[in-house]
Amino acid sequence: MKGIEPSYRAWEASVLPLNYTRKVHCAAALYLRALAPNLDPHPRPSLALYFASLPLMQTTLPGSEPEPTNAHPLIRTYSGRRGHITVGQRQALQDLSGRFCVPFAQGSFDWPTHFGRSAPRVFEIGFGMGETTAAIAAANPQSDYLGCEVYPAGVGGLLVRIGQQQLTNIRICHYDAVLVLTHMIAPDSLDAVHVYFPDPWRKKRHHKRRLIQPPLVELVRSRLKPGGYLHCATDWEDYAMQMAQVLGTAPGMRKRADEIGLEPAAGASNGFSARPSWRPLTKFEARGLRLGHQVWDLVYERSA
Ligand SMILES: C[S@@+](CC[C@H](N)C(=O)[O-])C[C@H]1O[C@@H](n2cnc3c(N)ncnc32)[C@H](O)[C@@H]1O
Repeated sequence: MKGIEPSYRAWEASVLPLNYTRKVHCAAALYLRALAPNLDPHPRPSLALYFASLPLMQTTLPGSEPEPTNAHPLIRTYSGRRGHITVGQRQALQDLSGRFCVPFAQGSFDWPTHFGRSAPRVFEIGFGMGETTAAIAAANPQSDYLGCEVYPAGVGGLLVRIGQQQLTNIRICHYDAVLVLTHMIAPDSLDAVHVYFPDPWRKKRHHKRRLIQPPLVELVRSRLKPGGYLHCATDWEDYAMQMAQVLGTAPGMRKRADEIGLEPAAGASNGFSARPSWRPLTKFEARGLRLGHQVWDLVYERSA
């Protein structure tokens, strides 16, 4: 397995968003390449390759990915699609990853070292193509932003914006945000967590994949400073109701409104807030609005 190790991180980053079967196929390809480097580097996966890859899966995956805990089971909250990466995004990944992307690692993310200063800290789960992240970070140069996304085109998209707008207050972790929060973010350290338009997982049998559930909210609460806030937005009514129920009953969290310039949302029950003017409209939100969906914002702060 020695020949595999140096490229393992890169492999892991590119296959993380894939579903299990495709992960196994990639492991098989890597395994074969390590055994026989002169072979076609992208062999078509076969049953024989699958079996050949099993030792790799068993010896590298458990050691390199953090162990699941009971409180935060490793349920995948994102879809396996990879999407098309544009030339510009690929170029930005090549040119800017070294400066703005931080690798997943066990141990605390050292904000002052990465940003060269002490500033309010905002963590974002699933920034998609990064429009919102870039716009909010540009409007708030006094704060630092760490965004997580598993979708390579999204990471490239945010890097393009960072380059175009010369933003210095964003860092990106191309990894599962739940694992980053669990293993890299110190307790009581964040000023805010943003979760905008998380995958709605519409089918009932997929609801277990929704991000906003009690274990995630408890994890977020533990990482927020007292008084820090969690801001969620969605255009799926039943998910909005679930968010209001989960956040409204989460121990140590209470609804926050006035402090960040929010007014009660028209026609919504007490669990919701109006969209703050500083949260820009994203592609997903615009699509929801075109489909006639309402948009719900929820802002809750850590009270204990
Ligand atoms: C529907 S998109 C919304 C993107 C963006 N927030 C917006 O408003 O345009 C949800 C995004 O969350 C990402 N995502 C879901 N679960 C994630 C996780 N556990 N860690 C990192 N990203 C995640 C998905 O890859 C996807 O890009």
